[in-house]
Amino acid sequence: MAPGRVFLVVLLALAVSFNVSLAKTKICDKGWECKGVYCCNQTISQIFTVDNFEELFSKRNSPVAHAVGFWDYYSFINAAAQFEGIGFGTTGGQLMQQKELAAFFGHVAAETSCGYSVAVGGPYAWGLCYKEEMSPDQLYCDQNYLFPCSPGASYHGRGALPLYWNYNYGQIGEALKLDLLNYPDLLSNNATIGFQTAIWRWMNPIKPKQPSAHDVLVGNWKPTKNDTASFRFPGFGMTINVLNGGLECGQGDIEAMSNRVSHYLHFLDLMGVGRELAGDHLDCGEQVALNPVSNSATSR
Ligand SMILES: *[C@@H]1O[C@H](CO)[C@@H](O)[C@H](O)[C@H]1NC(C)=O
Ligand SMILES: *[C@@H]1O[C@H](CO)[C@@H](O)[C@H](O)[C@H]1NC(C)=O
Ligand SMILES: *[C@@H]1O[C@H](CO)[C@@H](O)[C@H](O)[C@H]1NC(C)=O
Repeated sequence: MAPGRVFLVVLLALAVSFNVSLAKTKICDKGWECKGVYCCNQTISQIFTVDNFEELFSKRNSPVAHAVGFWDYYSFINAAAQFEGIGFGTTGGQLMQQKELAAFFGHVAAETSCGYSVAVGGPYAWGLCYKEEMSPDQLYCDQNYLFPCSPGASYHGRGALPLYWNYNYGQIGEALKLDLLNYPDLLSNNATIGFQTAIWRWMNPIKPKQPSAHDVLVGNWKPTKNDTASFRFPGFGMTINVLNGGLECGQGDIEAMSNRVSHYLHFLDLMGVGRELAGDHLDCGEQVALNPVSNSATSR
């Protein structure tokens, strides 16, 4: 055999063995995806189990809670499945995945808690105590909008990140292909839908050109000069700003804001990550709010 041919054979052999080893290690170049039984990065249920869920929301079925038997792990997993492919809880490897879930659930717990400082199990064990606002004092109906109210319907706070106002029910219903405008009760009758609307809110900005809470938490968002001048930096505090900045940011160390931070830190501990990895800029006490109160999706 001529030396040239030997070289070619060796090259071919190398190429074949390289391909084989590629196939064995299953390197991913397209981000999160599942092919058959194999997923490039871990799914949520691989890093967040039913036991984790029970620990985070340990008091939700206690007799004094207001949504006993409603919220469960499987509704969350069903709801999340729709968003895993676009990065919810599947971005950036296990640590970031856990941090995103701790942050998401920190907001959920803070908004649905009936805990207080001397409550049994501590103040952060009472998330998912509610599935809807109790005795609302209005219908949250803004008649002059794109999404007209269904006669007599009430658009009070419902869901895992409570949704308020007809236009928010309309917008998210349209995105999820659910008629939430005419059937707002779907959110408080079906826990999967109660979680789907919350995850949708987490994954989407309130206004175009703003980041979503997800983008902020996983590091997809880079502050502009305006943001920096407004003290808005990447971190958990900016997720508060995205979700409810008009009510809770730029007012120093107020209770509603620090309650979210405390839930996040507590959940990081419970999930075995540890609060020392929570990151910088945990609160938004000094940040200028992204949106004034009346434009906030969760404004009351
Ligand atoms: C998958 O996980 C690796 C590390 O475990 C990470 O570097 C990569 O960014 C992840 N892929 C996606 C799409 O997040
Ligand atoms: C709850 O909603 C989900 C998502 O729309 C749906 O697949 C499921 O069938 C609903 N469950 C019930 C009991 O209606
Ligand atoms: C920057 O902030 C100013 C003052 O709040 C605002 O008028 C302007 O539209 C902002 N620019 C951008 C690009 O967001």
